[in-house]
Amino acid sequence: MNDSRPSDSTSVLFVCLGNICRSPLAEGIFAGMAETRELGGRFRVDSAGTAGYHVGERADRRSIAVAAAHGVRLTGRARQVSQRDVHEPGVVVAMDRSNQRSLERLRGRKGRAEIVLMRDYDTDADSPDVPDPYYGGPDGFEEVYRILERSCRSLLDDLCARAD
Ligand code: 4NP
Repeated sequence: MNDSRPSDSTSVLFVCLGNICRSPLAEGIFAGMAETRELGGRFRVDSAGTAGYHVGERADRRSIAVAAAHGVRLTGRARQVSQRDVHEPGVVVAMDRSNQRSLERLRGRKGRAEIVLMRDYDTDADSPDVPDPYYGGPDGFEEVYRILERSCRSLLDDLCARAD
């Protein structure tokens, strides 16, 4: 029998507003870190947006550029978060408190997903929120990259420690 059933892996879904700037970056960084630690099979990593404005689009070119500068490739297309995402067990990581509130509303009482805030894992957080870089310049994307790198490292450590 094949021992690597999907149920053996943990679903980790990163969520922002548009699913074109922050959450695709978080997805790429986390998946790359898991791969580097040879933990790729332990996680199913994805991202989504609470809003549907950009459904079907590639990540923002500024997110693609900052990711590429750090050796991370972003290949996904934006999608909107669905009820299924919060009803099934798994970890759903909100980029800011507004995303977190939207996800909690969508989950209601019956959902089994664990909704957490990305910057609760940031070892150097000066705010609870990953700032939205969409209307700013390229510096904002580099700053978001650094926040997400610190946060994803701690999140991965935490999820690995749980599984031990
Ligand atoms: P994201 O950034 O939530 O990090 O993907 C945004 C992308 C698009 C918009 C807002 C934020 N928008 O208003 O279209």
